[in-house]
Amino acid sequence: MFRSSRTPQPGVFLQMDAAKAAARASGLRVIDLSIGASDLPPPPEALQALRESIDDPSTYGYCLKSGTLPFLQSATRWYARRYGLELDPKREALSLIGSQEGLAHLLMAVADPGTVLLMPEVAYPPYFGAARVAGLEIFPIPLGPDLLPLLRAIPHEVAARARVLLLNYPNNPTAAVAKEEFWLEALAFAQKHDLLLVHDNPYLDQLYEGKAVSPLALPGGRQRVVELFSFSKSFHLAGFRLGFALGSAEALASLEALKGPIDFNQYLGIQRMGMACLELPEERLKQEALIWKARAEVMVQALGEIGWHFEQPQACMYLWNRLPAGLGLDDLEFCLKLVAETGVALNPGRSFGPGGVGHVRFALVQPEPVLREAARHIGEFIRQHTRD
Ligand SMILES: Cc1ncc(COP(=O)(O)O)c(C=O)c1O
Repeated sequence: MFRSSRTPQPGVFLQMDAAKAAARASGLRVIDLSIGASDLPPPPEALQALRESIDDPSTYGYCLKSGTLPFLQSATRWYARRYGLELDPKREALSLIGSQEGLAHLLMAVADPGTVLLMPEVAYPPYFGAARVAGLEIFPIPLGPDLLPLLRAIPHEVAARARVLLLNYPNNPTAAVAKEEFWLEALAFAQKHDLLLVHDNPYLDQLYEGKAVSPLALPGGRQRVVELFSFSKSFHLAGFRLGFALGSAEALASLEALKGPIDFNQYLGIQRMGMACLELPEERLKQEALIWKARAEVMVQALGEIGWHFEQPQACMYLWNRLPAGLGLDDLEFCLKLVAETGVALNPGRSFGPGGVGHVRFALVQPEPVLREAARHIGEFIRQHTRD
C-alpha cells in the first residue's frame, strides 16, 4: 500500500462532509455551522492590492526570502505597534502559507521524531495530523474548569521528553481566553523544561473586548516563543493562504531551512494583500469582533430558549458545549442525524481530540436570522430524540 506510518488517518471531517452532501441531495437546505470559515467579506483594501498586483508583472515569479522582506517588515511594524516589541524582520519573522502550514513544518523543524508534543486534550484537529507527520508522540494535557490546560498535570518524565508546548488562545474550539497569568505560568514551564512554546494565534482579533495577550511580548518570550499569525480569521482571507511567524530567531532559522526544499513562499500579490490588512486601523477589527459577540449572544439565547444552556464566550466565532442530557446519542451520531434530519451541520466534539467526546462545536458563520432558524431546528430535533 502506498501509505507511510506518518500518513494521518482520515478524520471525522470527511464523514460530516459526506453527511452534508447527502442532506443536500435529499432536498434539505443545509445550514452549515460545522466549519470555521468566516462568512464576512475581506477588506476592500486587500482585494484592491491583489488587483494591482495582477497587473504588475514583477509579481509573477518565484518569491525568494529577500522578496518577502517588505511583508515581514510590515508584520514586525504591526507587532511593534500592537505589543511594543521591535523584532528583526530578517531573523525573527517568516512568511507562511497560512498558520496551519507553518505549524506542521515548524514541528518537523524543531522536534525530532519520537519526542513528545505537549498540547491540550481538546485542540484544532490538524494539530493531531501535524504531530503524526512529524513523528511526535502527543501528550494530551487535561483541561481545568476554565478550559485552560492543567500544566501541573504533566508528569515530569513526560515533560523531560518533550520539545514543544503547543497552545492556542483565544481557542478553537472552546472559545477559552488565556489571561497573562496563565501565559506567565506557561512560559515558566517552557523555561523549566527547555521547551519551545508555540502559540498558534489566529483568533487574537476575535477577542470581543480588550487586547489578547501575546506571550512573545512577555519577559523571556523572545527566546522561547514562536507565534503563528493568520489572515484567515482577522481578515476573512482563508482561501488566499497567508500567515506569518514571529519569535525565536533560532526556531525560525530551523523553520526557514526546512521550508527551503518545500516551498517558495506565497505569491507576492497575496503578500501585498496582507500588507494592506496590517495597515488597517484596529478600530475596524474591533467592530468585527462585535459581530461575533452579537452572534454568540443571539445563539446562546436561542439555545437557552430550547433548554440547552451555554455560557456567553468572551471571544471567537465558536460555541462549545456538552450535548444535552438524555439524548442517547454520542456526539458523532448527534451531528450525523441532525444534519440528515434538519440540514443543520455542527462539528462533533471528538474531531477535536479525546477530550472532546460528548461535546459539539458551533461555528457562528451565518447571519443572526439563520442562527435563530438553526436553533429552532435543533430544538425540534432534541425534543424528538430525548428519552423520557
Ligand atoms: C487554531 C487554528 N489554527 C490555524 C487555523 C488555520 O489557519 P490558516 O488558515 O492560517 O492556515 C485555524 C482555522 O480554523 C485554527 O482554528
